[in-house]
Amino acid sequence: MNPPRTDARRHHDPDVRGFASDNYAGVHPEVLAALAVANGGHQVAYGEDAYTENLQQVIRSHFGPTAEAFPVFNGTGANVVALQAVVDRWGAVICAESAHINVDEGGAPERVGGLKLLTVPTPDGKLTPELIDRQAYGWDDEHRAMPQVVSIAQTTELGTVYTPDEIRAICEHAHAHGMKVHVDGSRLANAAATLDVPLRTFTNAAGVDLLSLGGTKNGALFGEAVVVLNPDGIRHMKHLRKLSMQLASKMRFVSVQLEALLARDLWLRNARHANEMAQRLAEGVRAVHGVEILYPVRANAVFARLPHDVSERLQKRFRFYFWDEAAGDVRWMCAFDTTEDDVDMFVAALKEEMAR
Ligand SMILES: Cc1ncc(COP(=O)(O)O)c(C=O)c1O
Repeated sequence: MNPPRTDARRHHDPDVRGFASDNYAGVHPEVLAALAVANGGHQVAYGEDAYTENLQQVIRSHFGPTAEAFPVFNGTGANVVALQAVVDRWGAVICAESAHINVDEGGAPERVGGLKLLTVPTPDGKLTPELIDRQAYGWDDEHRAMPQVVSIAQTTELGTVYTPDEIRAICEHAHAHGMKVHVDGSRLANAAATLDVPLRTFTNAAGVDLLSLGGTKNGALFGEAVVVLNPDGIRHMKHLRKLSMQLASKMRFVSVQLEALLARDLWLRNARHANEMAQRLAEGVRAVHGVEILYPVRANAVFARLPHDVSERLQKRFRFYFWDEAAGDVRWMCAFDTTEDDVDMFVAALKEEMAR
């Protein structure tokens, strides 16, 4: 069959990729195909459709029989909806200072969710029970917002990864203080790929209560889900999602994307590939004198420090961002569609610019 006629024109070169963000990538062809399959006919709106129903089974196959998914539009929305479900008006969220909810969500947790964030500086983006204790106190003190949930990111903003044991220790510590644990899993697939364990090993099996499960960075067009893993004490999710403007009317098109990723192994193939490209990149640049890799490269991000003028020249050839411009720190991200050639050309360009 001929493809449907369209008047749309291509406004970009589909062979050009950079290292700015896994969000710069397009949509995995298998996800696009799944969207086409879900198209046509009428389906009940707002989540009562066959695709969302099937997604629940897929989610339960990963996370066990009590898991329930609430598809949403984006990661900020997932975090804001999830955290509201476990924080009272007088409560607070403990998180790393570098957490996306603290630095990259435009104040949405505070302004949309009304959430008070209690932040802790970390050396590598990871919280520990000891670091949590810097903010975990004063539950009976009405002068202080009451810590009610610990939010960690897996992988972290700095590309580091918690082991299942580290997450278990955080959950045991948080639960002993009556706090829930939320995971910002915008890159949960990348964590599972590098740990080489099922998703549940470092989420519900480790004690995590609820999760923001990423799809966009893993090859979706858009779409994430709040996944309630342990329903105890988590209520009104449906109402919170609508109130927070994250209820998609044509939800089948969010759900089918997550289903396409998670029903078989597309999520893992995509994440493994992105991680492998980051390893290749790290190995390539590690040998370059004057370039320092800042954190262990475990997933699909490489953070490096190099001379500012070199980065500026390199940015004219490949897109990427400064992370801390004053320090000369940059972030290079790989995606499901990054190729070995992309990496090798980038490393060669870096070598050239360093030698100039
Ligand atoms: C750790 C983390 N959480 C959440 C998000 C989701 O953000 P968005 O609202 O842009 O989908 C991102 C995106 O960059 C992220 O890196």
